[in-house]
This record gives sequence, C-alpha cells and structure tokens, in this order.
Amino acid sequence: MTSDIKEVLITEDQIQAKVQELAEQINRDYRDKNPVLVGVLNGAFVFLSDLMRHLDLSCTVDFVSWSSYGKDTSSSGVFRIMKDLETSVESKHVLIVEDIIDTGLTLHYLLDTVRARKPASVKVAALLDKPSRRRIEAKADYLGFQIPDAFVVGYGLDFAQRYRNLPFIGILKPEIYAGRGTPPDDIQ
Ligand code: IMP
Ligand code: MG
Repeated sequence: MTSDIKEVLITEDQIQAKVQELAEQINRDYRDKNPVLVGVLNGAFVFLSDLMRHLDLSCTVDFVSWSSYGKDTSSSGVFRIMKDLETSVESKHVLIVEDIIDTGLTLHYLLDTVRARKPASVKVAALLDKPSRRRIEAKADYLGFQIPDAFVVGYGLDFAQRYRNLPFIGILKPEIYAGRGTPPDDIQ
C-alpha cells in the first residue's frame, strides 16, 4: 500500500508531536469547560482519537456525517446530514474536529448548523489546511499543518475509502486515480 504513495508529506513523528502540542493548547483553553468534541466522519476519527487521549480534562464526544447532493461537492456546496449529533449542544462548549479544510464548504455549513443550536461557544481543530483551495471563509482555531494543493491520504484521509490506516500523510501517485476522475470528485 505504501507503494501507492509518491511522497510522504508529514511523518508519523511530526503528526504525533503536533497532536500533543494542539492538545496542550486545548487543555489550557478548556479547563473546567467540559467541551463536546464533535468529530466529522469519516476522515477525522483517527485525529480525534489521538487528540482526545492527550486531553487531561472532562469531555464528551459526538459525531456528524455529511454528504453532498450531486457528485461535485466543491461546486454544489449543498449538504445533507447523514448522521446528526446524538446529544444536545445547547449551552455547551463545542470543539469541532476535522481532518482537513479544503474548499471550506463542509466546515462553513457545519458551523452554521451547530451555531443554530445555541452552544456556549464553537471552535474548530483541524489537522490539515489547504488555504489555496478555499471557496468560502473557514478557519481553524487549532491547526496542525498548512499543506500545498495536493491530494493527500493517510491518518484518516482516504481515496475511495482506502489508505485511512496509513500512520503518515502522503501524496498519492497520480496513476492510482488515473481514469477514475480527479481525486476531489471522489472525496465525500
Ligand atoms: P471541503 O468541504 O472542501 O473543505 O472538504 C472537506 C472534506 O473533503 C474533508 O473533510 C475531507 O473529507 C475531504 N478532502 C479534502 N481534501 C482532501 C484530500 O486531499 N484528501 C482526502 N480527503 C480530502
Ligand atoms: Mg472529512
């Protein structure tokens, strides 16, 4: 499987050091706030599970799953909730945990949805950010790494549901997705 990777962009050690650093900031900011961590399925589950094991505070976890109408998420920007939160976030401190901010559409609509439920606060932790692809304003309060405009897999991120189990972030060889459309059509 690693033979499908053209280049390792972020190593396992670099990810683990960064996750710990982010968790230390979150520990300071959320002491006594009992945050609800909201993981965005499927991609964020690896980052979330590592991050929360470094949190030395009382917290709960919930998940949402989104899907886009139509094939091209980036251009339609219309989302449908496949799996909603199971708990109420009213008057709670919500920390959304995302794998990557790309066009920003997912996060933008998720923030709207969560804010409509009147939480005490909402912030975002994202492992990766591709600022050059942004179509709508979206920003992480806790960010792991900014990356260039390349399609990446590993550490929860997939191509056609594969490669999520790689412990590092890598760029796929173009021949892997050749003939299957450009990767961004396949991402949700
Ligand atoms: P956005 O709505 O365009 O910001 O896209 C966010 C979602 O697209 C992420 O949560 C990922 O699931 C997926 N995504 C964006 N870029 C990549 C990538 O390079 N590799 C794998 N998935 C990606
Ligand atoms: Mg995702």
